[in-house]
Amino acid sequence: MKSYMMQGAKIISTGSAIPFAKVTNEQMSSIVETSDEWIFTRTGIKERRLLTESGKSISDLAIDASIKAIDDISMDPATIDLIILATSSPDDLFGSASKIQDKIGAINAVAFDLTAACSGFVIGLITASQFIFTGTYKNILVVGADALSKWVDWSDRSTCILFGDAAGAVIVQSCNSVFNSILNFHLSTAGNYSDYLSISYEENLQPHPTLNLCQGSFKYISMNGKEVYKFAVSQVPLSITKCLSDINLSTEDVDWLLLHQANERILMAVAEKLCISKDKIISNLSKYGNTSAASIPLALHEAVQSNKIYRNDILVIAGFGAGLTWGTVVMRW
Ligand code: UT7
Repeated sequence: MKSYMMQGAKIISTGSAIPFAKVTNEQMSSIVETSDEWIFTRTGIKERRLLTESGKSISDLAIDASIKAIDDISMDPATIDLIILATSSPDDLFGSASKIQDKIGAINAVAFDLTAACSGFVIGLITASQFIFTGTYKNILVVGADALSKWVDWSDRSTCILFGDAAGAVIVQSCNSVFNSILNFHLSTAGNYSDYLSISYEENLQPHPTLNLCQGSFKYISMNGKEVYKFAVSQVPLSITKCLSDINLSTEDVDWLLLHQANERILMAVAEKLCISKDKIISNLSKYGNTSAASIPLALHEAVQSNKIYRNDILVIAGFGAGLTWGTVVMRW
């Protein structure tokens, strides 16, 4: 991060929303050949929430999470300058952030979507902080929301057991204090591995006498789980170490490690590599599975609600996923 920061950026509020329908590992075994034992020991997941209510979309969850974050601090939505919705499963390919803007009454906010899969929230948070550091905007709503249950192949046991649907939101505000503020970030992309995790678009040639008309549709999630696992366990610790050492902090200074909730074994392996005690890992994976862009703000909201994080604590947030992309944010709470 360059040192032209003029304003600090801090998270002043959090919110989250989950769908009503809970699906346990036992219930998953009625859909594909699997077991609670396999899922729990390989991933740490016990159950997940799926967006099954008729007429309810990922935008509705994103709106609910946003309203919670706004109401929690009795904020006037008209003071929000920007809304960033990190999602890879919008209900409108042109973007859903403007729906949030409308429904929460953020009449003065610019709104756009950001597509970066499971790294989406971290990249959204960093994007928001850039607008704040330069003094462009003061109040920014960052939402991570995904409903990957709509995009999994329900006959593929290696992926359908992993994902759940949820939304999480934070309000980032400019500040001059060292507390509760973003201290540093680090982002990376390895596009040469993009095939490891994707929802690709497939074209079909439409018959026409003179023109080649191509229209198609998106396929299901495809993932090379082993390779994504190896990438996460090798690259995320490097990103965290760099992000900390750039500001003269070490892993010993870390109070809380909040990683993208993809797999409990990944959380443990990353903490072990960094010599961070497992007591410092924030995890809610057992209840929700991998909720993609929502996983970090959902876990952050729960940690804040349960008063886990104290003022002055050093919180390390790291996301990773399709792209492949990964990134770290270091904050002083
Ligand atoms: O959010 C984006 C980032 N995503 C990730 O970070 C995911 C990273 N990858 C992972 O978390 C793990 O690779 C998985 C949880 C996806 C898979 O765990 P694994 O230990 O790598 O299992 P595997 O793919 O090597 O499969 C081992 C065995 C296979 O059987 P054989 O070939 O050994 O006979 C699979 O067919 O487990 C089988 N298997 C299952 N068995 C029961 C795969 N899925 C299941 C299942 N139930 N659901």
